[in-house]
Amino acid sequence: MLNKAFAEYVVNHLKKEGRLFNGTDHLIRVLKNAEALRTTENWKVVEAAVFGHDLAYSQSIESMHAQESSTLAASILKSLGYEQEEVFHISDAIACHSRFSNKPPSTDEARLLWDANKLDWLGATGFGRFMLRSGAEGLPLERAISSYRRLVAELKFYTPKGKALAKEKRKKTEELLSQLQF
Ligand SMILES: [Fe+2]
Repeated sequence: MLNKAFAEYVVNHLKKEGRLFNGTDHLIRVLKNAEALRTTENWKVVEAAVFGHDLAYSQSIESMHAQESSTLAASILKSLGYEQEEVFHISDAIACHSRFSNKPPSTDEARLLWDANKLDWLGATGFGRFMLRSGAEGLPLERAISSYRRLVAELKFYTPKGKALAKEKRKKTEELLSQLQF
């Protein structure tokens, strides 16, 4: 079960930062996705990794946010009494959940976090999130949409269930994009 103090820390931190597209609602969707994809992973590791994966985020450190979130989550989890091995697996999953990470997810838990997180870029919610992110970066709508199309085309999934779910969601995403007047 997820440590209550860790969950509270993360929720308060994200609320304080007023996240636009990776706040607590994103965490809840990623957690639900992870539940839907779950097989034999260590759930304690997955839950903590989901909660901690975007802990340190700002536009200026996008390419570093996985590593920085990993380091921050590890120090908090250690102080809360998580075992060293658990902290290692949680921080490893967080460190490799981004396309900017220098290594792909190599454990079942890390692959589950990757897929659950990437699924939240698909469908109407994913489109909305991406438009918010693009707006914050100052991208005009037309460029934001072509950038989103590219993201959808390039998104990669690792688990069999993640791939199947992504296929369904991609279809819905294509339907949505076909309605745009661009
Ligand atoms: Fe995320």
